[in-house]
Order: sequence, then structure tokens, then C-alpha cells
Amino acid sequence: MALKITVIGTGYLGATHAAAMAELGYEVLGLDVVPEKIEMLQRGEVPMYEPGLEELLRKHVAGIEGSTGRLRFTMDWAEVAEFGDVHFMCTNTPQKHGEYACDMSYVDRAFELLAPHLTRPALVVGKSTVPVGSADRLAAYLAEHAPVGADAELAWNPEFLREGFAVQDTLHPDRIVVGVRSERAEKLLREVYATPIAAGSPFVVTDFPTAELVKTAANSFLATKISFINAMAEVCEAADGDVVKLAEAIGHDERIGKKFLRAGIGFGGGCLPKDIRAFMARAGELGADQALTFLREIDSINMRRRGQMVEMTREALGGGSFLGKRVAVLGATFKPDSDDVRDSPALNVAGQIHLQGGQVTVYDPKGMPNALRLFPTLGYADTAIEAVRGADVVLHLTEWREFRELDPATLGEAVRARVVLDGRNALDPALWRKAGWTFRAMGRPTA
Ligand code: UDX
Repeated sequence: MALKITVIGTGYLGATHAAAMAELGYEVLGLDVVPEKIEMLQRGEVPMYEPGLEELLRKHVAGIEGSTGRLRFTMDWAEVAEFGDVHFMCTNTPQKHGEYACDMSYVDRAFELLAPHLTRPALVVGKSTVPVGSADRLAAYLAEHAPVGADAELAWNPEFLREGFAVQDTLHPDRIVVGVRSERAEKLLREVYATPIAAGSPFVVTDFPTAELVKTAANSFLATKISFINAMAEVCEAADGDVVKLAEAIGHDERIGKKFLRAGIGFGGGCLPKDIRAFMARAGELGADQALTFLREIDSINMRRRGQMVEMTREALGGGSFLGKRVAVLGATFKPDSDDVRDSPALNVAGQIHLQGGQVTVYDPKGMPNALRLFPTLGYADTAIEAVRGADVVLHLTEWREFRELDPATLGEAVRARVVLDGRNALDPALWRKAGWTFRAMGRPTA
């Protein structure tokens, strides 16, 4: 009989995973503790903007016309425990308030609520990004609290999806990593992922701690790559070099590679910043803090970029105060193709300038409602052209395609001064300069 799958926690990770599991042909039951989320998902609506996700959901959610009906949602833990052969745990692990460490309360709570209902053998699979050692602890918890005892087994299967590519990354992962303690668990997970494995996704089997560490190590590496190129941007600024050319040139070395070498205002979002901090905190607890002190530097190079963007803006406005200056900000989300503004460098820069007296107007293709909620005192415009109207300077802070396709000549008619600062090194300087703009980018010559 085909495996039955449940997905616990229907945020970014869980909603995508549930839809992807249905796409792979399984009967899926999703659970969340927030009624509004469940109601939305039951209507085939996603609580965030993620390309392709709503379509995939509507293709499978029961009750939607023409759907396969393979995907349902509930708030009932007993129903979930009764239904599932494999339970994917997809709750979030934010940064603890006022600390670097990871807040495990949502994960712990999910295990507490599920365990007492596990009366039949099941594989519980953790997907959240957790401090190393958590799987070991949670496995012991299950064995003790599940009525079936050791037949409620744990596995750890970290998720590497990128926002904006969540559906693609889930259906065609570039690797599947599973931390397991038995052949039965490995066999079950090979069965769950049979389709992507057959399509060529490498399947890496590890112990618990390694599986947990793969995720934090991968994110630390990516953060390091970005901060490395941003450090090079700082040196380029001082030496009049061009970081974009430098990245292109070193990227030709296959050992280095081209990806994740875009200098700019740095990384943000719900993952990289909190993951490197939680990793440092956990290493400290393990007595291995020295091994990760470099991540502190990675973090501070990254956070410094935001301040440098503010200073570059001040300079472009002639130095001194922002009072009375009109600043247009293109982009609010932490990356394009997402509506996520969590720890967004773009909004952070906009906020800093606003707090220093600048008249900031923000426009973002998808992030406006979230930005407005987080930063209600900033000015917002419905279009890019409205945002730049009367501006003394235009900041390009999230690299949406829409911004690359803007016509500098048309925009030039709307602004007070044709000054554009590219915080993402994504606009074409020649194009803007030809239309009479003063163009500045981070780590590139003033020309
Ligand atoms: C990241 C990891 O990539 C993913 O594997 C993991 O599962 C979750 O965390 P995500 O947060 O969606 O994914 O964003 P990512 O594409 O990694 O970008 C993170 C940030 O780095 C963004 O703010 C982006 O603008 C910035 N970035 C990325 C750069 O500044 N330069 C680059 O070259 C690449």
C-alpha cells in the first residue's frame, strides 16, 4: 500500500513540502495550530508569495474542482497520528529573543502534541533547522512518550529549499540528506523520495549529528561566500577596483565558482542570519566556540554593509543630514521573487534613513503588505515610477527583474536629481549613465 504522509507545521517549508508530497503521488494530511492558516490552505491559498506553490496546492487540495484530492488539512493531532506512516516535522526555529541561540519551543511543542497519539508504528522525520544534538534528544523523547515506544522512530532530513525556488528545490532537490538509526528508517525514506532519487538526486545517509550539521554548515558556507565578496567590495572601494569584475574573474576558477559572489548590501531573510548565530551559540555550548569565531566576522561584515549603504546615500546627497531629502527605495524584500521581509537589508537601510530624517518612499513588487506591517511609518508607493517621483536619490536594494527592466530615461523625467545607487550590483551602469544618471554601486569605481 502507498505510504501515507503527514506534514506538521504549514509555513514556508511545510506548505511546500505537503504540496510536493502530493505531487509525488502520496495521500497527504497537513496540520497546523493556526486556524486561519488551515482555512486558507483548504481554499488552496498560500499565506505567502512563492512562485508555483499556489498552483501546485490547487492541483491537489481536496474539495477544489479538478484537484487530485490527495492533500487535506486538519488541526487534529489524533487524526494525524492515526493517518500517517511518515510524519514530517516542519515547525519553525527562530532566533531566541535577545540571544543568538535557536528557539526550539515550536519543535518541542509539536513533538509533545504528537507523541501521545502515536499508537501505531511510524517514522517521525525532522526537517527543521535545529542545533546539533536535538535529534538525539527528540528520539529519546519519542521512545518514552509514544504509546508504541521504540516503533515510533525518528529520522532527520534537513531541508535546503531557497525562497523563490521552493517548489523546484523540493521536487528536484540537489541532494537528499537523511540522518537515520536503522535500516527500516533508511528504507522508508528511500521509498518516500523514490521519484527524485530515480531522477538523479544524490541520497546521502548519515548519523543524526551529521545530518543536523549539514544544514548549518551549508548555510554558514553560503553566508561566508557572500561576506567574503562583500569584504572584497570594501577593499575595492578603498583601492578603486571593481568587485563585479573581480567576482567574475575568480568565479572562473571552478574550485571557487560564480554563484553567491554577488556583492551588495548583504544577506538577510529568515535563515542565513539566524542560522549562523544559532550555530555559534551551539558550538559554544559544545566547547567548540573557537571553531566558529570566524562566523562572528562574517556576521559583522554583513551587518556593516547596511550602514555603508546609508553612508553612500548620505554622500550622494552631498554629505550631512538627510533632513528634507527625498529618498526612493526600490525593493523591500530580502531577495527577489519572495514577499518575505524578515531581516531584509533593503528595509533596514530604508528604516535607518527614515529614522535620520530622510523622506523615504518604498516600492516593492510583492513585499508591500509585509513591509507596511513591519515598518508602518515609511512612505510607500504603488509603482516604481511613483516611488521615484521628486526623489533626490534612488536606491536599488532588491534585485527584482522589474527594476532591471525599468527605462532610466522615463524614470529620469520623474526624479528631482538623476542619482541612482545600486545596492545589489544588478543594474547596467552603462544604460543608466547614458540616460544622464550619476550611477554608483557598492565596490565599483565611480566612473
Ligand atoms: C537560504 C539557503 O540558500 C537555503 O539553502 C536554505 O534552505 C535557507 O536559506 P534563502 O534564505 O531563501 O535560502 O535565500 P538565499 O537565496 O540563500 O539568499 C540569502 C540572502 O543572501 C539574500 O538576502 C540574498 O539577497 C543574499 N545574497 C545571495 C547576496 O547578497 N549575494 C549573493 O551572491 C547571493
